[in-house]
Parts: sequence; structure tokens; C-alpha cells
Amino acid sequence: MANDKIAVIGAGNVGAAAAQMLADRDLGDIVLLDIVKGLAQGKALDISQIGGIWPRHFRLAGTTEWERTADSKIVIVTCGLPRKAGMSRDDLLVKNVQIVREVSRNIAKYCPAAVIIVVCNPLDAMVYAAAKVTGFAREKVIGMAGALDCARFNYFLGCELGVSSEEITSVLMGGHGDDMVPLARFTSVSGIPITELLDEQKISSIIERTRKGGIEIVNLLGHSAYYAPAAGVVKMTEAILKDSKTIVPCCAYCENEYDVGGYYIGVPAILGKNGVERVLELRLTSSERTQFDKSLKHVRELAAKIEEILERIMPS
Ligand code: NAI
Ligand code: 2OP
Repeated sequence: MANDKIAVIGAGNVGAAAAQMLADRDLGDIVLLDIVKGLAQGKALDISQIGGIWPRHFRLAGTTEWERTADSKIVIVTCGLPRKAGMSRDDLLVKNVQIVREVSRNIAKYCPAAVIIVVCNPLDAMVYAAAKVTGFAREKVIGMAGALDCARFNYFLGCELGVSSEEITSVLMGGHGDDMVPLARFTSVSGIPITELLDEQKISSIIERTRKGGIEIVNLLGHSAYYAPAAGVVKMTEAILKDSKTIVPCCAYCENEYDVGGYYIGVPAILGKNGVERVLELRLTSSERTQFDKSLKHVRELAAKIEEILERIMPS
């Protein structure tokens, strides 16, 4: 049986880190693609040579040619400008939608059966654009953000409680922005609700730090995070390839779910071989619903901008 094939588009910080982690976990043959000549090839060669030290069973190739990605099961879209200090994720919209449009056309041409995991920002808008341009079924286009935002929430909670963040499971909804909605009510440490272990003020300050988790790293590094984002992508890829039905908060299409009305937004979802197998619907309190609605409003506004830009550059 042929190995599963995974294409990683963009061999920058997130793409290269994702390729390395996919290779470390031996998840399949990887094709790393970038428009910059030599970049993907060089990084692929470097990562492949780890095989001379630790065993590797799958191949990793670097390329600038889309033909090499043909029939990938999963395409991970990391190409796009990252934000720098002083920029919001939304500042990247116009430039990145053009890149996502071009890349999505190639995905539709070369990998028509793939599940797409979009990473580039502004995340929810880029997932919307990729879905529009490819015309892929709703369950096949997913965005990675919730896995990262939950990882940050779990890490900060673990530090505060002095427990391994692995012990913590959390739920987070909404768009990948400052108005994301970490849900303390559904967050627990080995089954113990965090509300039993931490006071309200402490939980609020950790939620606030989680919301600003991206910019905290941008301010330290001068560019955006990539190791934990790559791990988030790999977690989703593994769930899909292994059909593990893992629940991961991710940016998924919602129609009647949460009355979203046909947009891609962060929700808890079951991931399996088809991509999003099901969106889990939680009964939100009125305060949680208000926060989710605020985030949804923003997601809808960005989607409207995407429609405008695509209409301008890609009239039907
Ligand atoms: P980077 O600048 O290090 O890498 C981007 C790569 O994409 C570059 O190597 C560039 O040459 C390549 N590229 C540009 N246009 C391309 C095209 N048409 N085809 C193929 N490759 C192309 O950026 P980084 O740090 O890897 O971030 C990538 C994106 O992911 C950014 O938009 C960033 O904001 C986003 N991001 C999203 C996260 C999330 O949680 N969803 C987390 C971290 C980053
Ligand atoms: C982050 O949250 C840049 O969206 C990216 O780190």
C-alpha cells in the first residue's frame, strides 16, 4: 500500500517546523513546496539528514513544482506573510488572500481529494477564501488555530497549577483573534474543573494572556510563533490520517451549528478521515454566547472583505 502523502505549502517558519514534526512522527511522505527557489529543497534535505541519526521511514522532498504534490491526502497551507510587531492578523488580509487564491487553485487542480488545513492569517478569513476558491466540500477545508490557542491556555494553566499541561483539556471557540472565547466551564485538569482549583480573577488573567498569546511572542521575537503552531497542524493531520475521531477545536464550516449561517469559525470538532466529521454543539450560557457573537461578527466582516477582494481579482 502506498504511503499517505502530505503536502506542506510554504517552507518558512511554520511550514518547515511542521515538515520536521511530521517527519519525526513518521506520518507519511512529505512534499514541502515554496515559491522561493532552493528554500524548500534545502530545508527538506536538512530535515531528511536527521534520518542519518534517528530512524525515518518516509520520504521528504522539497520543490517549487506543484506537480510533485499530486494526490496528496492532506495539504497544509502555511504560505503567506506573517505579522511583525505592531501588526494585527487582519493587516495581512489583502496580501495573503492573493496568495491563498493562487495556492487554492493549484490544490483544486493537483490534489482534488485532499483535506486542506489552512494556517495563514487572518485565519478564519483565509479558510473562507480557500473554501470559496477550491469549492471543496465543507468538511474538507479546516483551519488550524484552536489547537494552538488551547495549547497556550493549557500551558499557562499548567504553569499556574504546577501540573503537566498534558493533564489539562480545554475548549475554545470563536475566531483566531483577540476576541476568541476560551471556555473555562469546559476546561478541566484530569476531570477536575479548573473553577474548583483557581479563583475567577486568576482564570480571567490566564484567559487574557491566552487571547494575547500570539502578540506576546511577536513582541519577543519580532515575528510570529511557529513551533507550537506547527504542533497544532501535526495534531490535526495525525487525527485525519489515523481516522482517530479526536476532538480538536478548529476553524470549521458552520451553517445551523451555533446559528453561524455559513461561515468558518472556531468550534470543537471531531476530526477523522473525512476531515471534520462533526461539529460539537455545546449549550452556551448567555455570557458565552455574547462573546461568541462578538467574535462571529468580526469573522463575518472579514468574510465580506474576502468576497469583495475575490470579486475584484477573480470575477466570475
Ligand atoms: P514565513 O514568512 O516564515 O513563511 C511563509 C513562506 O511562504 C515563505 O517561505 C514564502 O516564500 C512562502 N510563500 C509565499 N507565497 C507563496 C506561494 N504563492 N506559494 C508557495 N509558497 C509561498 O511565515 P510563517 O511564520 O511560516 O507564517 C506563515 C503564515 O502562518 C502567516 O500568515 C502567519 O501569520 C500564519 N500563522 C498562523 C498561525 C495560526 O495559529 N493559524 C500561527 C502562526 C503563523
Ligand atoms: C499566533 O497566534 C501568529 O496567529 C499566530 O501566534
